[in-house]
Amino acid sequence: MKHALSLSLLSLALAGCATTPSPEKVAGLNEDARKTAGGLIQTLGGELKTALTASGPGGAIGVCKEKAPQIAAEAMQKTGFQIKRVSPKNRNPKGVPDAWETQAQAELEKRLAAGEKPETLDMHAVVDTPDGKVFRYAKALVTQPVCLLCHGNPDSMPAEVKSALASQYPADKATGYTAGQVRGVLSIRKPL
Ligand code: HEC
Repeated sequence: MKHALSLSLLSLALAGCATTPSPEKVAGLNEDARKTAGGLIQTLGGELKTALTASGPGGAIGVCKEKAPQIAAEAMQKTGFQIKRVSPKNRNPKGVPDAWETQAQAELEKRLAAGEKPETLDMHAVVDTPDGKVFRYAKALVTQPVCLLCHGNPDSMPAEVKSALASQYPADKATGYTAGQVRGVLSIRKPL
């Protein structure tokens, strides 16, 4: 009897792991992911402006290169989320989007083309993986005029940026953008 009870408890516990999280839980995660993404984008934008004023576009490269991952690492520690920036035309070779991120960016690009404002361009999902269910979130990072200093047409980039990019990112794919295009996505992930 005791044995049967513990077995049924065990199967309950296992079933609990496999079931879809409640809509409330997913809504809560989405809310947290939105706040985290919004905070990161704001902090990074502020750091970028400060560095551009203080040390020009060449000096601001460090913000995207060192500050961005540092700010993301702090947010990851605080929230337990895994956070990264990805793009099909990535500068950092580690920023390759996976299947879900690729699909998310395509979807967000469609919504942007249909007239949605950049601020609300995000989406989330709970996906099945071989290791269990995972909460996924993507926020579009839309190219603004200031981004073109380092992601625009190479012919109109400041010479110091061009040479720094050439030496630090020999496989750079992240140029040739125009304002209003989706540069990439801020991707958040949490195993459930
Ligand atoms: C001063 C130059 C500079 C400016 C301005 C700049 N970036 Fe970047 N960006 C970089 C560098 C350098 C990297 C590579 C960072 C790394 O090593 O991870 C990068 C990487 C990225 C990535 C990660 C994916 C990838 O391509 O590796 C995204 C997304 C991105 N930038 C978006 C933006 C957006 C949006 C803006 C404007 C708000 C912007 N950047 C402005 C230099 C810049």
